[in-house]
Amino acid sequence: MEIKISPSILSADFGNLRHDAIEAVAAGGCAVHIDFMDGHYVHNLSFGLDVIPALKSHVSVPLVAHLEIEAPDRFLRDFAEAGSDMIVVQEDTCPNLPRTIDAIRDLGVEAGIGINPDRNFSRIEAHPHILREIRLLIVMGVYPGFGGQRFAATVEKNISRAVELREEAGVNFDIGVDGGVSTATVPHIVAAGANYLIAGSSIFNGDISKNMAALRESAS
Ligand code: DX5
Ligand code: ZN
Repeated sequence: MEIKISPSILSADFGNLRHDAIEAVAAGGCAVHIDFMDGHYVHNLSFGLDVIPALKSHVSVPLVAHLEIEAPDRFLRDFAEAGSDMIVVQEDTCPNLPRTIDAIRDLGVEAGIGINPDRNFSRIEAHPHILREIRLLIVMGVYPGFGGQRFAATVEKNISRAVELREEAGVNFDIGVDGGVSTATVPHIVAAGANYLIAGSSIFNGDISKNMAALRESAS
């Protein structure tokens, strides 16, 4: 599958967010990845909803809202109305994952699911039809909350399981990795079968365009 790179603006210069997002998209970013944190699901706070309309008119690619928050069902409509093109929920925050995915789709927004390094796929396996409803399955490379963390040891195994599930379902969503994506880890990530690379610190620390080119090169 085509390798896609999505810049995660958690590591961008917040004083120059628009500039950084535009540069990362100009360098080939397929979508702008925006992490929302609530201080409960993760011990951090990041953006508010208003960042979505603030960036929307300046970038030509989809805006992906990655909800690293408790009980995301409460906020799906807000994220849709703010202008998200895709909403990704963490599977362990959704007591009824199929219902959450349906709710996202009913709002006219693409849906994605994130899964943490220490989780198994049982909630997804219990409802395999949801694999036909999503466009992106994110295997977390780190525990959510912060950029710049070390890549977890379970990631390649989880990517392989995601690939199997996609084959069993006979569908075609992207398999992403979020967290710890760098020129050092990308060859392993791609070899394991993921095609959608979400990267924060390895893009925004330093020269954004050069970093994007180096990541792309490491994937080939
Ligand atoms: C972590 C976020 C990631 C984060 C990744 O909670 O979901 O999107 O930006 O950061 P890096 O690429 O620096 O590991
Ligand atoms: Zn993320």
